[in-house]
Amino acid sequence: MKPRVYVTRLIPEAALKKLADNCDYRIWEGELPVPRDVLLQEVPPVDALLSLLTDKIDGAVMNAASKLRVISNMAVGFDNVDVPEATKRKIMVCNTPAVLTDTTADFAFALLLAAARRVVEGERVVRAGKWKTWGPMILLGQDVHHATLGIIGLGRIGAEVAKRARGFDMKIIYNDSVRRPNLEKTLGVEFRDLRTLLAESDFITVHSPLLPETYHLIGEEQFKLMKKTAILVNSARGPIVDPKALYNALRNGQIAYAALDVTEPEPIPLDDPLLTLENIVIAPHIASASVATRTRMAMMAVDNLLAAIRGERPPHIVNPEVLAK
Ligand code: DGY
Repeated sequence: MKPRVYVTRLIPEAALKKLADNCDYRIWEGELPVPRDVLLQEVPPVDALLSLLTDKIDGAVMNAASKLRVISNMAVGFDNVDVPEATKRKIMVCNTPAVLTDTTADFAFALLLAAARRVVEGERVVRAGKWKTWGPMILLGQDVHHATLGIIGLGRIGAEVAKRARGFDMKIIYNDSVRRPNLEKTLGVEFRDLRTLLAESDFITVHSPLLPETYHLIGEEQFKLMKKTAILVNSARGPIVDPKALYNALRNGQIAYAALDVTEPEPIPLDDPLLTLENIVIAPHIASASVATRTRMAMMAVDNLLAAIRGERPPHIVNPEVLAK
């Protein structure tokens, strides 16, 4: 009998084909995330779950899935999965790092440029029929070239953002839980403690994972340290930035602008006060959304899953300690 798999949303066809060649799979084909009760009904017979960042995979799901051997998350982030609970049950958890690095860094930079040069505001002006003439004082933004960029989290994506920033002749500083001497040398970036980074940066871009230590890492106190002209970009995880503090900082002119690809919660409700502000750009969590990258992520998620159910070490396992158990 082929292994049984549940896939929580439609993913690129090539990945589904590979899955079909090797497994019996069922899939949630809805546009929105699989409802919790459906997920709980589907998982009891499955050996493997191919999940997304929109699915909460906690102890209750794992209890309902007594045969589950692997949770293969189609994302580099895996904060939606309770990894300690999985490890306790010897369930492997896998993710899809590296394949989305460049695509995500491109988008972080797109957000930075859009905020600095007020691209989205300008577009709103055009569509509203308010473009009356060229004006020496209209929609003035901030220069990106030669400005100081503060990168919070110099992992794979943060480092790629630094490369892009070098092309704009930016001065680049970073903060991370560990120093990165090699990157300091190769990318010409300088380490700063968080307070100093916040105070020195013209642009601040967040690339940390969501962990208990990074939850609301940027809040009221941190906004007070930033320049009044500062622009904050977050394409990592919404809850790293306290949304109430962000609203107050943007509204009171404590910082100039924000550009987000991620919010807390997601999707951002239409009555969220942030959506009343002009000085913010919000995208619907699409930093990795290119055709090629999403295909690579899906293939990697399937490869991780297949390796795990064959009893091999998956190429990208986040809790390798289960292999030793
Ligand atoms: C991830 O992979 O964690 C991103 O947020 C979506 O690609």
